Amino acid sequence: MRKLPINTPKPSDTASGLSGTQAYHDSAWKHVSGKARYIDDLPEPEGLLHAAVGQSTHAHARVTAMDLDAVRNYPGVVEVMTVNDVPGHTDIGPVFPGDPVLAGDLVEHVGQPLFAVAATSHRAARQAARLAKVSYEPLPTALTAQEALEQKLFVRPDHTQLRGDPDKALAEAPHRLQGEMNVGGQEHFYLEGQACLVEPTEDAGVFVHTSSQHPSEVQKLVAEVLGLAIHEVQVEVRRMGGGFGGKETQAAPLACISALLARKTGRPVKYRMARADDMVQTGKRHDFYNTYDIGFDEQGVLRGADIMVAGRCGFSPDLSDAIVDRAMFHSDNGYSLGEARVVGHRCKTHTVSNTAFRGFGGPQGMMIIERAMDDIARYLGEDPLDIRKRNLYGPGRDVTHYGQKIEQHLLPDMIEKLEVSSDYRKRRAEITHFNKTSQILKRGLSLTPVKFGISFTAQHLNQAGALVHVYTDGSIHLNHGGTEMGQGLFIKVAQVVASAFQVDLDRVKVSATRTDKVPNTSPTAASSGTDLNGMAALDACEKIKQRLVDFAAEAHGVSAEDIAFENNTVRVGDQRIDWADFVQQAYMARVSLSSNGFYSTPKIHYDRATGQGRPFLYFANGVACSEVVVDTLTGEYKVLRTDILHDAGQSLNPAVDIGQIEGGFVQGMGWLTTEELVYNKEGRLLSNGPATYKIPAVSDAPADFRVELLPASPNPESTVFRSKAVGEPPLMLAMSVWSAMRDAIASVADYRYSPPLDTPATPERVLGAITTTRRWAAEQTATTEKPVSQEA
Ligand code: MTE
Ligand code: MOS
Repeated sequence: MRKLPINTPKPSDTASGLSGTQAYHDSAWKHVSGKARYIDDLPEPEGLLHAAVGQSTHAHARVTAMDLDAVRNYPGVVEVMTVNDVPGHTDIGPVFPGDPVLAGDLVEHVGQPLFAVAATSHRAARQAARLAKVSYEPLPTALTAQEALEQKLFVRPDHTQLRGDPDKALAEAPHRLQGEMNVGGQEHFYLEGQACLVEPTEDAGVFVHTSSQHPSEVQKLVAEVLGLAIHEVQVEVRRMGGGFGGKETQAAPLACISALLARKTGRPVKYRMARADDMVQTGKRHDFYNTYDIGFDEQGVLRGADIMVAGRCGFSPDLSDAIVDRAMFHSDNGYSLGEARVVGHRCKTHTVSNTAFRGFGGPQGMMIIERAMDDIARYLGEDPLDIRKRNLYGPGRDVTHYGQKIEQHLLPDMIEKLEVSSDYRKRRAEITHFNKTSQILKRGLSLTPVKFGISFTAQHLNQAGALVHVYTDGSIHLNHGGTEMGQGLFIKVAQVVASAFQVDLDRVKVSATRTDKVPNTSPTAASSGTDLNGMAALDACEKIKQRLVDFAAEAHGVSAEDIAFENNTVRVGDQRIDWADFVQQAYMARVSLSSNGFYSTPKIHYDRATGQGRPFLYFANGVACSEVVVDTLTGEYKVLRTDILHDAGQSLNPAVDIGQIEGGFVQGMGWLTTEELVYNKEGRLLSNGPATYKIPAVSDAPADFRVELLPASPNPESTVFRSKAVGEPPLMLAMSVWSAMRDAIASVADYRYSPPLDTPATPERVLGAITTTRRWAAEQTATTEKPVSQEA
């Protein structure tokens, strides 16, 4: 049930496909017809070799001996390399060291690459890689965040954000509750697995085709392992078949290994990971162990909070410092915590190094405060929605625990709107009635907000470049540092360029991201792709337009104010000149028709020493209301209906934005419900394929799914055409599903008990929570005590 709210009609006097219109994704037809080329679809160059790696079978061990003879002798094997064959750097840690390109004498997770093989077929490379004889001397392991906390194993130091005197506020608050929860991780399950193709070039260098969100980093790391200057390496990304954060840093190891093999053999090398290897060898969303201690008044309004978030980082830092920071920044979600302390731990475990995943730690942080909101409501005997509303930031309660002032308060109004449009109160009454009469099936309802900070928290990443060429026929070539992973970045930036010149969108050609066109780019991540690259592209267009205006003013003897770009023409005084003719005139007059552009985000800063600052330029907001039905005999559940109201500012493309909201929500549902990563005691991932790891199917999406964009809501910050980032925030709208499940479960004890429900809330966990809740209710009737919320 897809509603498109802002169906901008095309007035005949404007160009088509401008910003704000629902242009198709530039590859939509190619996606559905199979013509869109991914790495593995590229024509294979002559002499191509295929790469695979030998994987560690231990979570933590000394490697005492490695016999690779059988690998070398396997038919089709051309080259076998160990870390000792690497000519340049051996550590490819993206921010901090800690990620050996190939392990030396120490392995720190099951699946860690020990050596690399190049063979004449994909199959031969994989078969050969299994034949190594490796001797290990096992070392002690820590596999979970809790074990790492006990053993004090961390990949980076902890960090604290403090506002006011939380200890005093907690001690003096009329009510106090404590709780804890485990929030599960998530496999990215991009449809296109990790892949790259590396070709040696004329000189010492290499050309890298990669499925990466961060071509500039791939370029730098490949140059480093080969011991080359960065300019010897070119990287191209046409598109990814999904990235979701999993290809921000973790596409680089494949490129480095392939480049090493290509250099050594002088032949092109392709490295495409099989799904099972991808799931074992590459990092996932961090699972977290979180605790809260909160104090509140009779109305349920928070006076103080002491929150701890601990992320399972795996064996190396990767991006975990920033991910745990973002969990901390979002442990308030949309609520004022009062006087607060938030502590974040970066737990080191002997598991694969966890990495970026849509929301980047934010979702895991928010879960603890959403859990607390439900718990307060059960404790006071109120509707959780009322508790949520009373705790929202608003004028006078507008400073976060990290010192950023919330300047735009959209949530109170958005919640009111959704409460009405989803019929929340009426359905609440119906559901309460239903649950009284229905023995086996129980229904639950919840309305939860999302407030998500937009900007990279690492300040230097908030920059972008673009390159725009106008050709003599008026067609336009666009390139920028952002990468396309399905999210619609390319079409949105193309729409910005079409709008800048007021020409039809089909005059603008988007092109593959390349490090030799726009250098030193940031990853396409933190939802900032359009904010950054859209502005950089606009800057390039404005530079070209300025030259065109100067030229026209002089050539036609009019003032600059009398020149305007309108509907595929340029108005010069009283004349209207066709765009292509105008461009031709400018060319003949020797006006430069090409420009680069640059943008860096203003206003943002954060001081780690004090834990205070303004890390975000602005916040994106959304609200979701979900209804579920739970079978109390089996723990199975279904989402019956979800209503969403989401704030995309002045949307650049409502169709693409709604697609992001729907996709993000369903992906979030998978994370919180069925997607379970199971490791055994030896640290081996057991859920390593679609048979054992359940992502949502079409049939799991809400049967009744109503998504709307918040109308007339321009971004108060001067982002590109006042739009807002939309890539990650909608994922967290799925918290409404988890909270609705707790609501349904709480009904078995007449809503007097707040059931613990760790995520993923699989049917097994739901059934467990029902049992706990019933047991609690039975004990109550036995002792007839005053209802209390459960402790942890
Ligand atoms: N949408 C699709 N279809 N595929 C993806 O891989 N990645 C998400 C989001 N939406 C993703 C997606 C993530 S993790 C981010 S950070 C943003 O898109 C990145 O793109 P943007 O900055 O252009 O929004
Ligand atoms: Mo998205 S997790 O920032 O790539």
